[in-house]
Amino acid sequence: MRIHPLCIATALLLAAAPALAGSGQDKVWISLGDEAYTLLRGIAPGAREIAPSPGTAAGGGLHIVEVERGRLDALSSAIHAGRRQCGGFVAHASLAEAQDALAARTKKLATQYPGYEINNGPLVTSMLQSLSEPNLVQSITALSNYRNRHHASEYGAQASTWLYQQWTALAGNRSDIKVEQVAHRNTAQKSVVLTITGSERPNEIIVLGGHLDSIASGGAGGTAPGADDDASGIANLSEVIRVLTDSRYQPRRTLKFMAYAAEEVGLVGSGEIAASHKAAKAQVLGVLQLDMTNYKGSSGDIYITEDGTDSRQNAFLRRLASTYLPNLQVGSEYCYYACSDHASWQGQGYPSSFPFEAYDDARGNDESNPYIHTSQDTLDKSGGHALHALKFSQLALAYAVELGSNVGVTTQ
Ligand code: BES
Ligand code: ZN
Repeated sequence: MRIHPLCIATALLLAAAPALAGSGQDKVWISLGDEAYTLLRGIAPGAREIAPSPGTAAGGGLHIVEVERGRLDALSSAIHAGRRQCGGFVAHASLAEAQDALAARTKKLATQYPGYEINNGPLVTSMLQSLSEPNLVQSITALSNYRNRHHASEYGAQASTWLYQQWTALAGNRSDIKVEQVAHRNTAQKSVVLTITGSERPNEIIVLGGHLDSIASGGAGGTAPGADDDASGIANLSEVIRVLTDSRYQPRRTLKFMAYAAEEVGLVGSGEIAASHKAAKAQVLGVLQLDMTNYKGSSGDIYITEDGTDSRQNAFLRRLASTYLPNLQVGSEYCYYACSDHASWQGQGYPSSFPFEAYDDARGNDESNPYIHTSQDTLDKSGGHALHALKFSQLALAYAVELGSNVGVTTQ
């Protein structure tokens, strides 16, 4: 197997990290792709691989490894250091969950798709005019002013409560809007979820998400402004919510806006939330992830992640862009394994998309923000403005209103 040179750097860091697996009581199971796994085995022979699903030899290029929970942060910094070229990883709370998640990837899941009509021109066009770039700047600034939003730090908890208050204020006194902080089993940080209940098909759910946490060296004590990764995506959500509520828009389907906790340590918040939707047999008809939207590293504007996402929903995003944002240039990019929270939903069989700020082939040609996961991920690296992020709020708003209003469904 070809190992990307940048994975070697990761290997060295992993080797320096405390031993993986062993005798500790509190365990976590992580799933990762071939490249990351090959590295891990070479340098941490103590790491124990477990068969992806009992009785099945092949795991579709994915592996499950048992790790002590206390080693998770070291592992996550090591994987971040190799940034993307070795793929991400997913943390699972139990071995059974890890095995189920991998089995689901190879199974063909029955998926419910919305009709993907585009016929709310006047409504969408007028709401697009109301999106404000200064509001995006304000949100990004407020979030990146926390020393960090690490899932295990007091600042990460404070940022969650701050966002909860912001979204609660936006919800006003509408009885069809609810805002919650969602606690997780595996991190103290809470996700924030705003739900606008659909007036006609409340059981059909559209999810727009981003991640609340940030990470850099130093872990819970480090400086991690995360202005692009991912204050930008959270700012996008807040601004879409603001315009929808200012317009007194009432969707026919249920819209859920989610700021996930603990993405940077294995998609923990979104993983739990997506699993609980699946367990409740929730009809999630679409998921849009916004993670890194404000650094214009490429000539184009919006890059749709092609791998690990739903191609039909991706085609819908392209049509939305050509209908409502005809001046934008839309390209393709690649994420490799589990690079952001959409993977949690896609893994449960829900159609997910991840429009991204720049071109990245996930094999070393990465034009996205080079400062992420450092103390330098600040707004000034994007010119001190949010003009690039604004395009993603535009796309997200069009997505929310067309899917929120057009109630045709197809199953496949
Ligand atoms: N926002 C990043 C993912 C990203 C980085 C996408 C650069 C495209 C270019 C995300 O927060 C992240 O760091 N993901 C990790 C995986 C995660 C499960 C630890 C990654 O991709 O290494
Ligand atoms: Zn991110």
